[in-house]
Amino acid sequence: MDQPIRMKNNGQISIVLNSETKSQLKEAIKQEAFPKDFSQEHAALKEIEEELSELVGMDEMKKMVKEIYAWIFVNKKREAAGLKAGKQSLHMMFKGNPGTGKTTVARIIGKLFHRMNVLSKGHLIEAERADLVGEYIGHTAQKTRDLVKKSLGGILFVDEAYSLGRGGEKDFGKEAIDTLVKHMEDKQHEFILILAGYSREMDHFLSLNPGLHSRFPLVFDFPDYSVDQLMEIGKKILDEKEYKLSQDAERKVREHLQDVKTTQSQKSFSNGRYVRNLIEKSIRTQAMRLLREDSYDKHELVTIRSNDITFPSLKNK
Ligand SMILES: Nc1ncnc2c1ncn2[C@@H]1O[C@H](COP(=O)(O)OP(=O)(O)OP(=O)(O)O)[C@@H](O)[C@H]1O
Ligand SMILES: [Mg+2]
Repeated sequence: MDQPIRMKNNGQISIVLNSETKSQLKEAIKQEAFPKDFSQEHAALKEIEEELSELVGMDEMKKMVKEIYAWIFVNKKREAAGLKAGKQSLHMMFKGNPGTGKTTVARIIGKLFHRMNVLSKGHLIEAERADLVGEYIGHTAQKTRDLVKKSLGGILFVDEAYSLGRGGEKDFGKEAIDTLVKHMEDKQHEFILILAGYSREMDHFLSLNPGLHSRFPLVFDFPDYSVDQLMEIGKKILDEKEYKLSQDAERKVREHLQDVKTTQSQKSFSNGRYVRNLIEKSIRTQAMRLLREDSYDKHELVTIRSNDITFPSLKNK
């Protein structure tokens, strides 16, 4: 076989190995293989990988987190060897619709950086416009400063950050941005700033503040979930709580999600959070049914039936 790599019709790449390439590959893997004590030395990475593996999809993000880990680790080694260690800023931008996992990921990143001694605490402070912007001159700078102070050693996560650029030059939002920028440079290694928001609005926000873009070298995109992914998220939430859907219930949820995804506008559909709310509601409805039926058999306690599932009316079409 002289052509080991072939393109399938469906765009997938199929790699066919002959014995020669196989042994070359084995050799290459051997050379690239991590040392024996890898897992011990990289316990932090392993733990984080385990946590990340709980998240559905997000392949790009998972890869990026590993890259950041490798980069920080290698930098420490370089420092120890007396070489120049790159001082890359770790401030980030998260772009995506509601419920796509931004807060969840920010929390995990906080933990990772804490374990790697990049952050002394690793906690997450969530803020939005109202927490940063004040009512009179000077108030905003003070509010923003106070929040940065609370975040030291951890992450300051500003949701819907684009709203800071909303009011133009005279708005106090501008003062909040300027104060944030000042602190993210002065205290570059004491906290991490994550600006989050819808993709389009964030891009617009950045275009209004050209100096900002280069200050956020790490940009994560959080795409909307497919129906399959939403179902998987739902199953994980149920699993965690020791519940499961009956076959009918599963079909009903799937059909509903298909429906919602085609009828609701992207911005009003809250992805993972929608599924979580749906499940939490159905658990309460199931409890009421069991009470009514007075049946507490173990199988019944675990099973969510299709009648337990009710949907909010589809608004915001
Ligand atoms: N990839 C995922 N795997 C498993 N669960 C997820 C995933 N993404 C989101 N979820 C679940 O969906 C819910 C919402 O996620 P999260 O709060 O992180 O979203 P968000 O992007 O911060 O939303 P918002 O922009 O509205 O604040 C959480 O309960 C989380 O457990
Ligand atoms: Mg959030």
